[in-house]
Amino acid sequence: MKQTERFAPHIFLHGGDYNPDQWLDRPEILEEDIRLMKEAHVNEASIGIFAWAKEEPKEGKYDLEWLAQVINRLYKNGIYTILATPTGALPHWMTEKYPEVLKVDEHGIRRIHGQRHNFCPSSPVLRKKMQGINEELSRRFGRHPGVIAWHLSNEYGGDNDAKTTIGCHCPYCEENFRKFLKARYGTLDALNKAWWTGFWSNIFTDWNQIHCPGEGSEHTMHGIKLDYKRFVSAQMLDFCKAEAEAVRKYSDRPVCSNLMGAFEPLDYFKWARELDFVSIDSYPDWHHVASARPEDQLPGGSVLPCDAEPARITAFNYALTRSLKKQPFLLMESTPSMVNWKSRNPVKRPGMHELSSLQAVANGSDSVQYFQWRKSLGSSEKLHGAVVGHMYGADTRVFRDVARLGERLETLAPKVLGTVNKPKAALLFDWENMWAVNDAQAVVQPFGYQERMKDWFKPFFDMGIDCDIVDMDSDISDYRLLAAPYNYMYKPGWAEKVREFVQKGGIFVTTVWSGIVNESDRCFEERHPLADVLGIRPEETDTRPPFMKNWIRWREEGEEIPERAGRKHPLYEVRDLAGIVGAESAEVLATYTDDFYADSPALTMNRFGEGCAYYAAAEGDTAFVKALLVRALSDAGIECPLEARLPEPEASERPWAKLPHGVTVSMREKIESGASTGDNSGARSDDPAGTLLFVQNFNARPVEILLKKAYRNAENGQICQDGITLEKYQCLVLEEL
Ligand code: GAL
Ligand code: ZN
Repeated sequence: MKQTERFAPHIFLHGGDYNPDQWLDRPEILEEDIRLMKEAHVNEASIGIFAWAKEEPKEGKYDLEWLAQVINRLYKNGIYTILATPTGALPHWMTEKYPEVLKVDEHGIRRIHGQRHNFCPSSPVLRKKMQGINEELSRRFGRHPGVIAWHLSNEYGGDNDAKTTIGCHCPYCEENFRKFLKARYGTLDALNKAWWTGFWSNIFTDWNQIHCPGEGSEHTMHGIKLDYKRFVSAQMLDFCKAEAEAVRKYSDRPVCSNLMGAFEPLDYFKWARELDFVSIDSYPDWHHVASARPEDQLPGGSVLPCDAEPARITAFNYALTRSLKKQPFLLMESTPSMVNWKSRNPVKRPGMHELSSLQAVANGSDSVQYFQWRKSLGSSEKLHGAVVGHMYGADTRVFRDVARLGERLETLAPKVLGTVNKPKAALLFDWENMWAVNDAQAVVQPFGYQERMKDWFKPFFDMGIDCDIVDMDSDISDYRLLAAPYNYMYKPGWAEKVREFVQKGGIFVTTVWSGIVNESDRCFEERHPLADVLGIRPEETDTRPPFMKNWIRWREEGEEIPERAGRKHPLYEVRDLAGIVGAESAEVLATYTDDFYADSPALTMNRFGEGCAYYAAAEGDTAFVKALLVRALSDAGIECPLEARLPEPEASERPWAKLPHGVTVSMREKIESGASTGDNSGARSDDPAGTLLFVQNFNARPVEILLKKAYRNAENGQICQDGITLEKYQCLVLEEL
């Protein structure tokens, strides 16, 4: 079967990680679990994720009888299996006999057996062993009616000790790195030019002089570091592809791997092309942030949490995951109650389990899956949340919450399947750009591209406007608005793509610290690559110490907005970066108030072709980013799909908002039949039938929303008009009438 013909399972899944391999000496547990799964409306179990030692207890001796029994028993009871390959954790016999399967760190020290996610992706022995077990699993179960998909390994690269580099520095990996560079540059001469190796006498005259960069070796040359990050992602992907090939030997089931949102070391846009569908593991910081709002301060000194903050970050991760293939994805892992690995681990407050699960669905997930179904009795995750705890079976708050959600999902499933979000706005989040900009030595260090990007996502979340996340290789032609903050690197062809986008009517927003380097982290010469589209001439970037304050004064139609009482500088504060630019053809919308560049452009807008391009020279505070995006979204004709308004006085205080604070909306629309699910050509169809609006209240208190038109509650059929009340942590699913 061709890869393009494989799709995600066409059923809505409720289930998650299940480890019957830990309970083989107690067969009654499997039967009890099946009974409980049915009671919890669970229809899927992800099996075998860390079961290599049970599946191949001795080298080359497979024992898969127990697995066959589990898959059969589950299937007979209406529970599908997503079958894992077991490479997430290695058995002792392997590391004992072949230490080369373990990763070597940047100081040249090989890991000793322990933990998980710590193999060398180049090791020929490991690849052989992986191929052995994967093919055996494929042969035995690859066409079993109960097996609906493959779960390749587990969180590739998710080594607990890894920060931004997860690379292995063993001789195999060094050799593969050189091969990677040869394929990329062809000649050493081209490599030397790309990396500018004349600096500090770094000219390479032999490929063998190149080593994986790291703490103990080269760690200042940007070009090599950037290419090494590319290599690390590509090499792990190469291992993942080898896993996929092995399971596809006898199986036609689609493959996925559980990804981790914006996980820095792996360029998931490139990964997604090799996977049939994508999935995410999601562990938000629910109840970790205190609300700053006066009404959330309780008598006695306690404060309600502000869950809109973790919700925004989570929404970004879901939007990113959906955008990888522009298709529905699976929420492969989430906790039904608490985790055990944060510094504090609050249990989910009543309502949060339903809301947090439906948030994933709202953003394009076709499943709600957990880590974990049943808690282990020992080892490191014995106290992590699970659907079934150590005691009381189904008679727990967590179990009841899960079962209630399962019932809700059954009602929603027929409406949700076959729909996906089709935003008209997109935010550029590019891994290669992230690697380069986070490594750049100027402005602020650490730069924190991810956090800054998630700040840019906030206005979309607050306004209830879905937004895709794209990289420089994505097709952007169907969006009406593209925001590309901190677009430091311009890959070949990117400037041309953006120029065409704006020419044809697109609204483009970019910022200071963009258009600085090419794909090899080499600086551009002469002018900004989009100087004509932006109509500006960026000259310097100032990162003042925090005591040197500056502000942005925004003019509208040449009029200065009157200063607010009591504050000298009423408008937006400049954060870390202040670009000093000249306006060429661009109109100046805002200027700096202070310093030697007072009155110079802080925000410009340039009309180009049918569209226009904004350039925020100043890095403004969140209110500035909001104001800028409100304006750009209005140029693009994009608004919150829920026709709602706020009551006074909130309506006057937040004129840009249709929704109360802490409430957001996501919309799923029909995936046109005939059109591939991988394209975004989905202009909102004129026929709104099948459109679902997920209205999510992340406040720990009820809110009122005034409606400007009537909707139908997709679950109970009731008509909602004039107004709706959302209880604390409630998610309502509405349909267009
Ligand atoms: C995930 C991992 C699971 C489990 C879970 C705990 O990152 O894939 O195996 O460890 O975290 O939250
Ligand atoms: Zn290695």
